[in-house]
Amino acid sequence: MSSESSTTQATSRLDRRLSVAPMMDWTDRHERYFLRRISRHTLLYTEMITTGAILYGDRDRFLRFNQAEHPVALQLGGCDPVALAECAAIGEQFGYDEINLNVGCPSDRVQAARFGACLMAEAPLVADCVSAMQKACALPVTVKCRIGIDEQDSYGFFADFIERVAEAGCRVFTVHARKAWLQGLSPKQNREIPPLHYDFVYRLKENRPDLQIIINGGIETLEQAEKHLQYVDGVMLGRAAYKNPYLLAEADRRIFGDKRPAPGREAIALSMREYIEQEMSKGVPFKRISRHMLGLFQGQYGGRLWRRILSEQGHKPEAGINSLLMALEATHKPAEEAA
Ligand SMILES: Cc1cc2nc3c(=O)[nH]c(=O)nc-3n(C[C@H](O)[C@H](O)[C@H](O)COP(=O)(O)O)c2cc1C
Repeated sequence: MSSESSTTQATSRLDRRLSVAPMMDWTDRHERYFLRRISRHTLLYTEMITTGAILYGDRDRFLRFNQAEHPVALQLGGCDPVALAECAAIGEQFGYDEINLNVGCPSDRVQAARFGACLMAEAPLVADCVSAMQKACALPVTVKCRIGIDEQDSYGFFADFIERVAEAGCRVFTVHARKAWLQGLSPKQNREIPPLHYDFVYRLKENRPDLQIIINGGIETLEQAEKHLQYVDGVMLGRAAYKNPYLLAEADRRIFGDKRPAPGREAIALSMREYIEQEMSKGVPFKRISRHMLGLFQGQYGGRLWRRILSEQGHKPEAGINSLLMALEATHKPAEEAA
């Protein structure tokens, strides 16, 4: 089988109608395992992992994940086609379902290394990277980018970038629908200040119906996701899914058509029990996992207490399953109030 046909097959196997964004320090393997308790189908992304970390660091620590996390995509940060190709092949060996290239991060550190969002000004280099990665592995190689950078913010600039990278064989683009200012704004401000232009992303899909286009940026509810899905192939949620993870509970039914009932919040919390015990037995502190679960009861009875108990208890040396059960207790309505 040629690598092109195997890539096409791999691309079509993955359902990208809903995904959770790559987020540094947030979407680590514990967060992904937790989110998978909530939604069976939503595609999950790793944090960005640089080629340097994989090639010269503790590879296993960066790449190891639990089989239960599938489908899961590995996001790479880098700009050297040879290093990226090697990392794509390593990602495939580790069992990831997709390899994604970060062309959207505006941080100073990433810019200094000439990758992330500044690569939007270097479409031929991105094309070379994608092409090398595709040759090195049979997985779909995808790109996550912005709609522009600095003064280069016309639809024409954005469309030319996509054209050039698509020519190299990339079939799937996730677009954070705002440009990035490379100087003067922090990464956080770059997620808030430049205005959103969903129209650019819709127009791209209209002009290139053959490409899979996933929209990202400022999407907070499944209602909003469903509206976007009328125009594009998929929706990627970032902060909203992290802060209020239970919003994914209805995603399997509403977005993916899976008729099985959504699990309740308490069942989700309890379903983490065995995992937490296993990880703690390998030396992982309780809070490394529980910190991702703080938003589970957002907007619910006892939700604030749940958060407080988990964070306060989580820092104690004796923190463990009992802390989880204690926090859960706070979400139970007293009998007279429940009646
Ligand atoms: C804490 C944090 C870390 C992020 N890290 C990454 C990253 O590693 N790679 C990346 O492509 N985008 C990263 N992003 C950007 C998100 O993937 C997403 O594009 C952005 O948050 C917009 O989506 P949202 O409005 O749904 O949050 C990060 C965002 C946050 C909040």
